[in-house]
Amino acid sequence: MKILVVGSGGREHAIAWTLLQSPNVEQVFCAPGNGGTATMANCQNLDLAVDDFPGIAQAVQDYQISLVAVGPEVPLSLGIVDYLQQRNILVFGPVKAGAEIEASKSWAKDLMKEAGIPTAKSETFTARDSAKVYIEKTGAPIVVKADSLAAGKGVIVAMTLEEATNAVDELFNQGFNTLVIEEFLTGEEASVLALTDGQTIIPLLPAQDHKRIGEGDTGKNTGGMGAYAPAPVVTSEIMNRIQTEILQPTIDTFNKRGIDYRGILYAGLIITPSGDPKVIEFNCRFGDPETQAVLPLLETPLEQLMLACAQQELSAQPPLRWQPGIAVCVVAASGGYPDAYQKGKAISGIESINDAIVFHAGTKLEDGQLVTSGGRVLGITAVGENFESAIAKVYAGVSAITFEGIYYRRDIGYRFNI
Ligand code: AMP
Ligand code: GLY
Repeated sequence: MKILVVGSGGREHAIAWTLLQSPNVEQVFCAPGNGGTATMANCQNLDLAVDDFPGIAQAVQDYQISLVAVGPEVPLSLGIVDYLQQRNILVFGPVKAGAEIEASKSWAKDLMKEAGIPTAKSETFTARDSAKVYIEKTGAPIVVKADSLAAGKGVIVAMTLEEATNAVDELFNQGFNTLVIEEFLTGEEASVLALTDGQTIIPLLPAQDHKRIGEGDTGKNTGGMGAYAPAPVVTSEIMNRIQTEILQPTIDTFNKRGIDYRGILYAGLIITPSGDPKVIEFNCRFGDPETQAVLPLLETPLEQLMLACAQQELSAQPPLRWQPGIAVCVVAASGGYPDAYQKGKAISGIESINDAIVFHAGTKLEDGQLVTSGGRVLGITAVGENFESAIAKVYAGVSAITFEGIYYRRDIGYRFNI
């Protein structure tokens, strides 16, 4: 079969790569893809923006594509799935009404309240004054979040009252008109990405993302500087609780609201010191870079699972099969990221890596030369028998790569034994 992957990041390269591991997948197209998907065997980039729905529907016809898999949240929240379904195209991803779970934090909080899902206490505000009064009353630390999509830049974890009130002003000044202010939770973070067909929901291996730019999880928040899976903080007992207390109630509540949610439901969690899982956010898609750590361990053919989700046949699937071991993904970024950075730097060394997989994110081919074109440039993933061997392999790979200004964290995976 032929599959079209929508998006251009490391996550989409990993999805395309995993799909192509299956003998049933003949060809993958990426809209628009990146330098990695441009050069992968049996993969072809299409010059289509992720929100060019008519162009994507036309490509499905022109290339006889059987399934569209949508990576990023923006086209999902703009209704790409509704658009394609109306044209009888099979698609992996939630409808617009379901993507609200990521597109609006207050909407997600309402759903969690209705479903009785454990999460941080919160209030929603549309005026600065009332937001500040609430902060004064509640005290710090406290978390201030823009309600709408903000590409990872709309959350301020304020340790003092002053930081929190400044965050309110900053977000309103940036043009956000609704804020969610919530209780600060402590514990270990984990990401659980779950496959769903709107009825059945099956979690993938739990992962942990390293969101901060600096070693020791310090400095600014980023899209994610690395990830590993499976994350031992999510024991099988905690995973069972996540299934019954979080994932299934979310799907049940979607159904109560008449929303047929198919695709990935991503639960961003904090596991509290007493071992209770609580939701800090939901996303309506695969995580980036969690996907680059989770999918290389998946042995069940991905296209089979995506089809089962799109056709509501997930309950008939046998249990997922996983390669034993640990996968670690390290992101190589452009110097300066997540602030301003330069683009167009020549990348070399990828061909010399044989013990790790190189997923491209911000790269493109310019006159046959691979150059940087984004903040997160590459995600290098290695699989090992244990953490030590996966970490040693991944850093042997990363150190072979050069481009001007390359920056990566040297401690990805360190929390595995915390
Ligand atoms: P989000 O975009 O909602 O995932 O938030 C980005 C990051 O902010 C998370 O990965 C957490 O590290 C942190 N964060 C968000 N909400 C909370 C919370 N209620 N308590 C503590 N940290 C939080
Ligand atoms: N790695 C965090 C995210 O995908 O939202």
